Amino acid sequence: MAWYNILMKSYIVGNWKMNFAVGESSVYLHKLTERIRASRDLEIVVAPSAIALQPLSLQIDRKKLRLAAQTANPHDFGAYTGEVSFAQLRGLVDYCIIGHSERRQLFHESDKQVRLAVAAALRNNITPILCIGETSTERTFGETSDVVRDQLLGGLSEVSAEDINKVIIAYEPIWAISSTTDAHIATPDEVAEIVTFIRRTLTDTYSSSIAEAIPILYGGSVKPTNAGAYLTVPGVNGLLIGGASLIADQFIDIIDTAKKVIS
Ligand code: PGA
Repeated sequence: MAWYNILMKSYIVGNWKMNFAVGESSVYLHKLTERIRASRDLEIVVAPSAIALQPLSLQIDRKKLRLAAQTANPHDFGAYTGEVSFAQLRGLVDYCIIGHSERRQLFHESDKQVRLAVAAALRNNITPILCIGETSTERTFGETSDVVRDQLLGGLSEVSAEDINKVIIAYEPIWAISSTTDAHIATPDEVAEIVTFIRRTLTDTYSSSIAEAIPILYGGSVKPTNAGAYLTVPGVNGLLIGGASLIADQFIDIIDTAKKVIS
């Protein structure tokens, strides 16, 4: 394992997407809390639907788990019907997933919205988890590094020098998300190549000390069976998990694997 994997905190982030009613979220959080032991080196984060964030923020045991929003609007307040802002989430969540591929693709979130959201999160004391990743067509046409570089540097372009090391990056190749076949699962070598590229881009743009201090997570069909392989990729500091985070046994299995890898 590379030295920066060892020195840096690791993260296991469960993206619940649009699943669970509020009551179910509360029951599930309770179940996780009962079964998880607090660890200084491993931050466990769950991202429930927006509607559940306020009640869960009163319930959560912050020594064991932290809350993330799945998206938020970069304007602090105003006439934006249906939206929830980072300013409104301040104090409720510690993290926010930003620029998830489902937001970019299904809800047409632009690069501009993503970079304004990263800045708004930081302004409101919320750690952005900036998601970047290529589609299968982009990969086939050899555009992966251009896409990843543009999303990375675009997403960070409004971040000040003092704040740059408060950001988390999640590399999620879109073709590997929610995959049901092994053919569409990224191999650890494929992940290693892009994570190395991300760190090199951060080094060239900022500095090597900044590049080494920014956590990079991997996401895309992470399961208990492959979590260990991704977590031991040099430069990977954690996982962003969708489907498997909805099943307590699987999520806890992944957490246990992470504890073993970092110990
Ligand atoms: P998945 O989702 O683990 O179900 O592939 C990951 C994500 O969309 O963040």
